[in-house]
Amino acid sequence: MQKIYKFQTADNIIAGQNSIETLKDNIGLIGDEVKSVLVITQKPMQDLGFVDIITRQLNEKGIKVDVNIDTIPEPTAQSIEDISSKIKKAHYDVLIGIGGGSVLDTTKILAVLEKNDNTIKEILGTDLVKYPGTPTILIPTTAGTGSEVTPNAIVTLPEEQLKIGMVSRYLLPKLVLVDPNLTVGLPKAITASTGMDAFIHSLESYISNKANPISDMFAMRSMKLISSSIVEAYENGKSIKARENMILGSLYGGMALTAAGTAAVHALAYPLGGSFKIAHGVANSMLLPHVMEFNMDCIIDRLYDVAEPMGIDRNLPANKVAEKVIERLREWTKILEIPQNLKEYGVKKEDIHGLAVAASKVTRLLGNNPKKLGIQDIENIYNKLLK
Ligand SMILES: NC(=O)c1ccc[n+]([C@@H]2O[C@H](COP(=O)([O-])OP(=O)(O)OC[C@H]3O[C@@H](n4cnc5c(N)ncnc54)[C@H](O)[C@@H]3O)[C@@H](O)[C@H]2O)c1
Ligand SMILES: [Fe+2]
Repeated sequence: MQKIYKFQTADNIIAGQNSIETLKDNIGLIGDEVKSVLVITQKPMQDLGFVDIITRQLNEKGIKVDVNIDTIPEPTAQSIEDISSKIKKAHYDVLIGIGGGSVLDTTKILAVLEKNDNTIKEILGTDLVKYPGTPTILIPTTAGTGSEVTPNAIVTLPEEQLKIGMVSRYLLPKLVLVDPNLTVGLPKAITASTGMDAFIHSLESYISNKANPISDMFAMRSMKLISSSIVEAYENGKSIKARENMILGSLYGGMALTAAGTAAVHALAYPLGGSFKIAHGVANSMLLPHVMEFNMDCIIDRLYDVAEPMGIDRNLPANKVAEKVIERLREWTKILEIPQNLKEYGVKKEDIHGLAVAASKVTRLLGNNPKKLGIQDIENIYNKLLK
């Protein structure tokens, strides 16, 4: 029998160079009654003048704009609740998030907290948000998490040494502006780690147990765009073509993961972020080749497919082609200078068991992985990163 699959994403997506300048013309997509807006961002985006572009356009429309720059990288539940209690009484008509995944996720959660009388912990998990939040507009500045089109938001829980996802259709925005110009000034290391994260969203969606024709389409196109441009974006950040390919690759990666879900790479990365503050894209990139090697015997056919968008010669036996795919992933992490040793982050041999137990609890993602991982398997993978 035909499998049933579903897909839901942002209401409106406007993409292309300078699309941020269309905010004024498109704010009407939210409704006629927008009088006050809160921009959620961080200092780097404010310093780059992105907030001014928003404020100028909305002020011209007579809309009042406030700005909050308190979002922390890889936000904790507490940090988001602190912002929430600060803004609660202002009753904004729209929240605009402009930044990387940390800002976008913070904005999405703040919006639902506005209309739901819950703590964050009460609504972590799948479909626990009861009511739609304040409408949001999301503008990514990394390429990236794809958070602008996913129904997910990830928070760090330092007390549980873990990151946990909130999944709800009410986290989806009303409007997304995807403007590659905003990523031109991304520092090299962030271009590298966030770009790898985007690729991993697509690769994991493609090998996910929940992969389906919709996720496959977005994943394959995303991997093609990113494979063609990740090194160029890293080495020549001013290349607008490379930046455009990367931000579209990230957008499609978000679509793919919405349709199919990520898997063991992301599950094993969560405790590294939660306990040792390793940035999301870095943790994922470190784990990627090792998790794919573990999965290998179950995914040879899928990796053979992936060789095509990656531009890898497929004129070899399928297992050799699959090995070449993993080899290319290793090459990228070297060229992009992404750390490969957990010791650099203070992880010790005696931490590995605890990390593995924490990762084994990320069942939402481990369930998508094509091969089952026990605690010992997870420990073996982490140990490969202790050099
Ligand atoms: N919701 C989802 O579907 C989803 C998917 C993947 C990851 N995530 C989450 O997203 C977060 C990571 O997001 P990220 O990887 O985008 O990193 P980030 O948002 O933490 O940004 C990294 C750094 O880059 C800076 N920055 C962002 N854009 C910039 C720009 N254009 N120029 C200069 N500096 C800039 C930020 O201020 C920050 O210091 C994690 O918490 C992760 O768990 C969410
Ligand atoms: Fe990710």
